[in-house]
Amino acid sequence: MTEQNLQSVLEKVYASDQPAVTDLVYLLEQTGDGPTEQIMRFADNVRRRFVSDGIVLRGIVEFSNFCRNDCAYCGLNKHNTDLPRYRLTREQITQSVAEIAAAGIKTVVLQSGEDPLPDPLWLAQLIEKIKTDFDMAVTLSVGERSTEEYQLWKDAGADRYLLKIETTNPNLYERLHPCMKLENRLRCLDDLKTLGYQTGSGSIIGLKNQTCEDLARDIIFFRDNDFDMLGIGPFIPHERTPLANEPVGDMGLTLRTLALARIITRNTHLPATTAVGVAGSTDSVKAALKAGANVIMLNFTPPEYKKLYQIYSGRDSYIGSPDRAINKLKDIARSIGRNISFSRADSLKNRKENAPLGQVLVNSN
Ligand code: 5AD
Repeated sequence: MTEQNLQSVLEKVYASDQPAVTDLVYLLEQTGDGPTEQIMRFADNVRRRFVSDGIVLRGIVEFSNFCRNDCAYCGLNKHNTDLPRYRLTREQITQSVAEIAAAGIKTVVLQSGEDPLPDPLWLAQLIEKIKTDFDMAVTLSVGERSTEEYQLWKDAGADRYLLKIETTNPNLYERLHPCMKLENRLRCLDDLKTLGYQTGSGSIIGLKNQTCEDLARDIIFFRDNDFDMLGIGPFIPHERTPLANEPVGDMGLTLRTLALARIITRNTHLPATTAVGVAGSTDSVKAALKAGANVIMLNFTPPEYKKLYQIYSGRDSYIGSPDRAINKLKDIARSIGRNISFSRADSLKNRKENAPLGQVLVNSN
C-alpha cells in the first residue's frame, strides 16, 4: 500500500457524508508507524482547522467508587470485594472543586461508579452549590440513570454528561456488561441529548473479541449522534476482573481510532485520555494530542481516595499531582507548537462548518 493510496482513502472518508465501514476498517488495519503517522497527520490538520491549537484542561473529581454493576473490564465491579469503597462528603468535593477553580480551570467533571446511593437530591444540591460558588461548567459522569434523575440534575444546573457506549457491538456489549442492555444505554444517551446536556460518549479500544469492524461502527455511531465529546482510550486489564489476563489495547490502533474520530466528527472535544498515558507514557499522550486530541483531564480526587478509584491497573503510579501534571503539559504543548487553554470550552457543535478538504491540507506536514 502506497502513501498515495492511503491518502486517497483518507480524503474519501473525510469528504463522505456516509463513510463506508470497509474504508474505515482498511484505515484501522494499517499497522506500522508510517501509515499510523500519516493518518495522525491528517487528523492533526482537521483538528487545527476545526478546534484550533488550544489544549483544554478539565478537572475531574472521582467522588465515589461504589458500583452496582459488574462490567468485565472494570476494577470497580461489585464482585471486587478486595477494594475498599469510599464516598466523598459534600465538603471534600467542594474543596477539590475549589482547587480546580484556583488552578484556573473552568470545568469540573464529577465522576463515580454507578453508586446506587447517594440520593439524587444530594447530587442536585451539590451541583447547585458548585454553580453558585464557582464560575464553572459542571459535567456529570455517574452512569445509567432514570430520565427523571437526568432532568433533576439538569434543572440543578449541570451542563454536560459523559456516558461512554464502550462498544456498539450488541453481542460484545452484553457479554462485557452482565445484566445491562445496550438499549438502555442508548435510551440514556438520547435522554441526555434531549434534555440539553452537552453529551459525551466514547469507547474502549482493544477489548477481547473486538474487531476493527466493531471500531469502524463505533466511529460511525459517534458521527451519526453528533456527540459533543468523545473519550477514546485503550483497554487496560485489572487483576480482579474476568479480563485480568488479556493484553493491553494496542496503542497504534487506539491512535488510529482517535484520529478517525477527529477526521469524521470534525469539531468534537476529544481528550488524550488518562488510559492512553497509563498504557503508554508521556510520549503516548503527546501522540494522542498529535492524532486529533484537544483536551486533557487533570485529576483532583484527594490522593488517599484517588488510589482506590481502580477502574484499571497502573493509574495510581501514573497520575501525579495536578500542579506537576500542568507543568509537564506545558512542556508537551510547547514541544508540539500548541498552547494550554483555560477556557470553558463548551461544545463546538453549534458552529457546523464543513471546510473543503483543500483548506485542511494547506498545512500538511
Ligand atoms: N480499561 C480501559 N478503560 C476502562 N474503563 C473502565 N475500565 C477500563 C479498563 N479496564 C473506562 C470506561 C468507563 C470509564 C470511566 O473508564 O470506558 O466509561
